[in-house]
Amino acid sequence: MSAYQNTQYQAVDTGASGYSYANPNSYSYNVAQEQKRQNQRSKWIVIASVAGVLALIAIGVGVGVGVAKSHKNSNTKSAAASSSNSNTSGVVQQTDPNDPSSFVKNPALKQSFYGMAYTPYGSQLPNCNNSLAEVITDIQLLSQLTKRIRLYGADCNQSALVLEAIKQTKVDMKVFLGNYPIATDAGQAYERQRDLIKDALTTYGTDHVAGITVGNEFILNYLTDNGGSQQDPNGPVGNAGAALLLTNITDTMNMVSSMNLDVPVGNADAGSYFNTQILSAVKYGMANVHPWFAAQSIQDAAGWTADFFATTNVAAANALSNKPTMYIAETGWPTKSSSVEAESDGPSNASVANLQIYLDTFVCQANANGTGYMYFEYFDEGWKDVQFGGVEGWWGLFNADRTLKNVTIPDCAAP
Ligand SMILES: *[C@@H]1O[C@H](CO)[C@@H](O)[C@H](O)[C@H]1NC(C)=O
Ligand SMILES: *[C@@H]1O[C@H](CO)[C@@H](O)[C@H](O)[C@H]1NC(C)=O
Ligand SMILES: *[C@@H]1O[C@H](CO)[C@@H](O)[C@H](O)[C@H]1NC(C)=O
Ligand SMILES: *[C@@H]1O[C@H](CO)[C@@H](O)[C@H](O)[C@H]1NC(C)=O
Ligand SMILES: *[C@@H]1O[C@H](CO)[C@@H](O)[C@H](O)[C@H]1NC(C)=O
Ligand SMILES: *[C@@H]1O[C@H](CO)[C@@H](O)[C@H](O)[C@H]1NC(C)=O
Ligand SMILES: *[C@@H]1O[C@H](CO)[C@@H](O)[C@H](O)[C@H]1NC(C)=O
Repeated sequence: MSAYQNTQYQAVDTGASGYSYANPNSYSYNVAQEQKRQNQRSKWIVIASVAGVLALIAIGVGVGVGVAKSHKNSNTKSAAASSSNSNTSGVVQQTDPNDPSSFVKNPALKQSFYGMAYTPYGSQLPNCNNSLAEVITDIQLLSQLTKRIRLYGADCNQSALVLEAIKQTKVDMKVFLGNYPIATDAGQAYERQRDLIKDALTTYGTDHVAGITVGNEFILNYLTDNGGSQQDPNGPVGNAGAALLLTNITDTMNMVSSMNLDVPVGNADAGSYFNTQILSAVKYGMANVHPWFAAQSIQDAAGWTADFFATTNVAAANALSNKPTMYIAETGWPTKSSSVEAESDGPSNASVANLQIYLDTFVCQANANGTGYMYFEYFDEGWKDVQFGGVEGWWGLFNADRTLKNVTIPDCAAP
């Protein structure tokens, strides 16, 4: 523990409480940067869901993120389902253009990742610019890297698109569906996504569903918006936030059982922000553990992630009688920054070379250790770069156009 309490993190302003990740009750993990990140994210979500839609459309239209330029017709479902089911992106070849399961495997890709974080391109309100054809390409690529993916939300029909793509590609893949509620909208975002998830479960069943994650960084956001993220997630404000989210978690559990299905319901939050009442209610917890935002050097990054997760998240879960299964919800390393000030986390830079080091030191070691993790992430996300800048849009193994970055994928079979 104290091995990590070196001078490196002092380069980052971690706030008055310093940096106490080694403490199982810690809630100050990277407070300054994570808070900034979350402030930006929650603002975006609220804006997108409530009001500033026109401005966002303008931004979205104005910025070409250069994904799959051939998909000009992706707004219509019929086009996506018929003509563009062929190898339109040009990234993945199919021996039969009409059969997505006939895709040609890329020998550079190895099924070495326990799981992978994924948001289909164009799955943000209000414009919902995703397409089945693009999701099929993604699933063809993702299935060559992992047997599990994690979604964050359900807007824009992404649950059904992913399950349809798994069906058509016939790959061995399970998905953690996601519902990303907002504390201040009287349950609108939650209910909208719940209904989309219900439809998807009704259509596709649960053979390829690993779980339903209700809440993404809900407690971190709730603390940030109600007095600041320095507060204890198990203090009065954290418990008030938990009470809100628990209504949604319980509602999803009731939905699942009323459908006579057996699907675990879980929750995801930043690694230092789990509320005990929430963790006591769920089957699994997913914790973001980011060496970059914790100002670790790339040499220490993988070891720090393993240590933080074990001492903070796994230990907390094991202390509860329901013993929720814990996963790392996000871990990775960015390859570039859109601003000079975010180029470095203090000791190390955002770069492809450092992504390679993180892959080489984390992936096979975590597999051998039996850690369940969702690698962050599949591809670069242009909308995040537009909204948040810095390193936010540049965490992909693939570029936004689905070409692999200049990395060698580790070669060890994931469980
Ligand atoms: C919609 O997606 C296509 C690629 O599928 C992209 O070319 C286009 O710019 C996107 N439009 C918006 C408004 O994001
Ligand atoms: C799709 O892939 C097949 C096999 O690689 C190729 O023969 C065909 O030309 C491709 N079609 C398109 C539209 O790119
Ligand atoms: C959602 O996607 C599925 C699979 O492509 C499709 O069958 C369904 O019509 C879509 N629903 C909506 C509302 O777009
Ligand atoms: C979901 O949670 C919100 C508070 O965040 C609450 O207003 C809403 O009633 C809840 N809805 C259900 C169905 O649980
Ligand atoms: C790392 O980033 C800093 C700026 O934060 C820059 O000055 C330096 O040249 C970078 N180092 C490398 C090796 O790219
Ligand atoms: C794997 O376990 C070893 C032994 O406990 C530990 O030193 C290492 O940091 C772990 N690495 C990962 C990536 O889990
Ligand atoms: C790719 O990375 C290797 C080092 O792993 C380097 O030698 C090579 O120049 C890089 N290629 C490109 C195109 O950047």
